[in-house]
Amino acid sequence: MTRNKLRIGLFGYGCVGQGLHDVLNSSSGFKADIVRICVKDRTKKRRIPMSNFTFDKNDILNDDSINLVVELIDDADEAYNIVTTAMMKGKNVVTANKMMVANHFKELVELQQKCSVSLLYEASAGASIPIIRNLEEYYDNELLYSLRGILNGSTNYILTKMHNEGIPYTQALNEAIEKGFAESDPTLDVEGFDAKFKLCIITGHAYGLFLEPEMVFHYGISTISKFDIKYSKEKGYKIKLVPFVGKTCDNTITSFVLPRFISSDKYLYNVDNEYNGVITEAAFADKQFFCGKGAGGHATGSAVLSDISANSYGYKYEYKKYQQGTVQNYTRDYKLEIYLRYKHEKDRDLFGFEEVSEYFSSKICNYVIGVVNLSRLYELREQLPKLDVFIVNTGRRF
Ligand SMILES: NC(=O)c1ccc[n+]([C@@H]2O[C@H](COP(=O)([O-])OP(=O)(O)OC[C@H]3O[C@@H](n4cnc5c(N)ncnc54)[C@H](OP(=O)(O)O)[C@@H]3O)[C@@H](O)[C@H]2O)c1
Repeated sequence: MTRNKLRIGLFGYGCVGQGLHDVLNSSSGFKADIVRICVKDRTKKRRIPMSNFTFDKNDILNDDSINLVVELIDDADEAYNIVTTAMMKGKNVVTANKMMVANHFKELVELQQKCSVSLLYEASAGASIPIIRNLEEYYDNELLYSLRGILNGSTNYILTKMHNEGIPYTQALNEAIEKGFAESDPTLDVEGFDAKFKLCIITGHAYGLFLEPEMVFHYGISTISKFDIKYSKEKGYKIKLVPFVGKTCDNTITSFVLPRFISSDKYLYNVDNEYNGVITEAAFADKQFFCGKGAGGHATGSAVLSDISANSYGYKYEYKKYQQGTVQNYTRDYKLEIYLRYKHEKDRDLFGFEEVSEYFSSKICNYVIGVVNLSRLYELREQLPKLDVFIVNTGRRF
């Protein structure tokens, strides 16, 4: 297969932009020419000569010699403007921006078809783990029962530090920010939004449904307490933030993002720090486990480089599961067993527990383990951040 010569316009020279630059410079097998880099802050010192940079996006978008735009900025709205304009001008695009892709998924899929261009975004879900291309190419005809995993490096780093070193939540969060693992707005990480954006992108490739993120229930780790960590350790579990998507029947799926107890015999137990892990369960391939760095400039840059390289061969996502159309419905009528740590009985009553298997009460706090319906959690989604509670999916089947 012949390679197209790539002339790249790069947007963003932060953690991932610089990571990509390093990865490209160290890659002996593949050369791509970065023609221009567009950034925002005129006062920032840069580690390469200023002649490489521009502050005007049109210097890239209107340059007909640039055939690939690589978008690595931290502003999802501006990223949307850049990416759509580039595609309408006939340029192929590589992006790592999960919020932008998830919020405009169907529209972006349609636009790339209309403009006959390619939009690749492997780094947007699981960073260095090639999960999107695997779902596209390897699982194109496989009956996929479910996919779950750890898709957010910052929260995994925080939970690891809390569990292994007993570090308080705020200190662990600050460390994740210092190490460049967190989003510019870390609430996107700790409230579970980031994991949900990735889950929505993965769902498009795993099942062919382009879900609005608003439709999917998410819950993060920002209210986790020492008590929750102590409880999980006593039981031999770690707490991980685990997005899930899976079939409920032939043509229907459900999905959600929730913290989950992971016992030591499970693959995800040893996925620590900024690492991500994805488990697929399928009819013939059975269970498979992918693991790799889920954050950081070089790890994410390597996934961006892989997309750039794929682009040079003319690669496009075909959205095979969408074309097949076997999954048509989405449901939140799904029972889950959860651990709920709470202070006030009236808060517990909100959840409508159907069965209770464990209950504990003390002066400090209470917890209950029992079965709830995902649709009830979804109804409570606006209220949950204001309650003094923490929820964990036990992951047990019943
Ligand atoms: N960090 C990770 O580990 C990771 C992993 C996977 C995906 N991602 C995604 O990768 C993208 C970049 O993340 P990052 O961590 O590299 O962010 P970052 O370190 O904050 O860097 C952001 C870059 O975007 C530039 N920028 C912001 N607004 C701009 C605009 N309007 N026009 C031109 N440039 C603009 C900034 O310019 P200045 O340099 O002038 O400030 C900066 O260079 C995000 O979508 C993020 O979600 C990140």
